[in-house]
Amino acid sequence: MRSYHLTGAGEPEQSLRLREHPIPEPGPTGLLVRVRAAALNRRDELILHDRYPLPSRPEVVPLSDGAGEVVAVGARVTRFRVGDRVVGSYWPRWTGGRLSTHLYDQLGNTVDGMLTEYAVLDQEWAVGVPDSLSWTEAATLPCAAVTAWTSLTGGRGLRPGGTVLTLGSGGVSLFALQLAKAMGCRVICTTSAPEKAERLLALGADEVIDYRVEPEWSGRARELTGGEGADLVVETVGPATFEQSMRSAGLHGEVVFVGGSAVEPELRIATATYARTMATVRRVFVGSRADLADLVRAVAVTGIRPVIDSVFPFEQAREAYRHYLSGGSFGKVVIAIG
Ligand SMILES: NC(=O)c1ccc[n+]([C@@H]2O[C@H](COP(=O)([O-])OP(=O)(O)OC[C@H]3O[C@@H](n4cnc5c(N)ncnc54)[C@H](OP(=O)(O)O)[C@@H]3O)[C@@H](O)[C@H]2O)c1
Repeated sequence: MRSYHLTGAGEPEQSLRLREHPIPEPGPTGLLVRVRAAALNRRDELILHDRYPLPSRPEVVPLSDGAGEVVAVGARVTRFRVGDRVVGSYWPRWTGGRLSTHLYDQLGNTVDGMLTEYAVLDQEWAVGVPDSLSWTEAATLPCAAVTAWTSLTGGRGLRPGGTVLTLGSGGVSLFALQLAKAMGCRVICTTSAPEKAERLLALGADEVIDYRVEPEWSGRARELTGGEGADLVVETVGPATFEQSMRSAGLHGEVVFVGGSAVEPELRIATATYARTMATVRRVFVGSRADLADLVRAVAVTGIRPVIDSVFPFEQAREAYRHYLSGGSFGKVVIAIG
């Protein structure tokens, strides 16, 4: 079997190495998963360039996101059977409840991830996926979709008729748009180009604001909500937009701070902006296995189809990274395996 490994910080052409191994045996509680597809997230770029706050294990198999079929199980496995379709959980040891520092392990970072023909996952690290999702669709769910899900559902509770604001057309924002529409909300999106605006409208966006044309877009967001502001803002960018996001939120709204990385030094907001609102800032960090299971169920029942930008063959994983790093994708970049 073949797996990609990260051999140090750098570019995909140098750092991503394909290696041959014997097919591993699952331990007593392990699942041997024939991986069929894996998907990229912004975190994988940060890990590749050694800019992610949680240091990766040397030679780790990258990518948290992947889906495959269980082909062998350990003697004590009770949660799955051979033939089940599964995805791995981003935080394998955070099964539910609150995240705590002793659970800090991540697939594709501190433990081997999904850019491999066969992965061994403990049975507690996986969630079943329905047949209605293709392998490429299922592979996109563990990081961006779960983050969108916890952003929308982890706070005070959105209600049908509420207004959600999303920023740009990255992976988290597209899932947030689709999930919020499925929850009966009105969705306002920002983006940077008319063709992307068209695609957001086709996905169900009610209003789209071009943030290049209107850099102070909070005024427009307030106007579109009759001066009230959005009930929930999914803030996927960071310091560059945080002030605008806070100004867009309703008096009792929520700004869910998703984006922003540790390399950006400050998150600033004018005191006057915060003083005139009672909005809450909430941070999410993807979600637990229970959140992943809830998200998979929501996707299956609502019929949401993840937006796929492109699918690369396993042998072209470096090209997939390169395409993703170029920043022009709309939807998930997926690597088909086998
Ligand atoms: N906290 C967590 O749990 C968590 C989980 C997942 C991701 N993240 C982080 O969340 C961020 C988003 O990740 P992602 O994978 O969804 O997307 P991404 O691929 O990083 O997003 C790229 C998109 O962001 C938009 N963008 C860039 N600058 C913008 C600006 N000034 N205003 C509005 N939109 C802007 C652009 O949209 P347009 O092309 O439409 O303009 C661009 O296409 C990343 O920083 C990622 O590391 C955090």
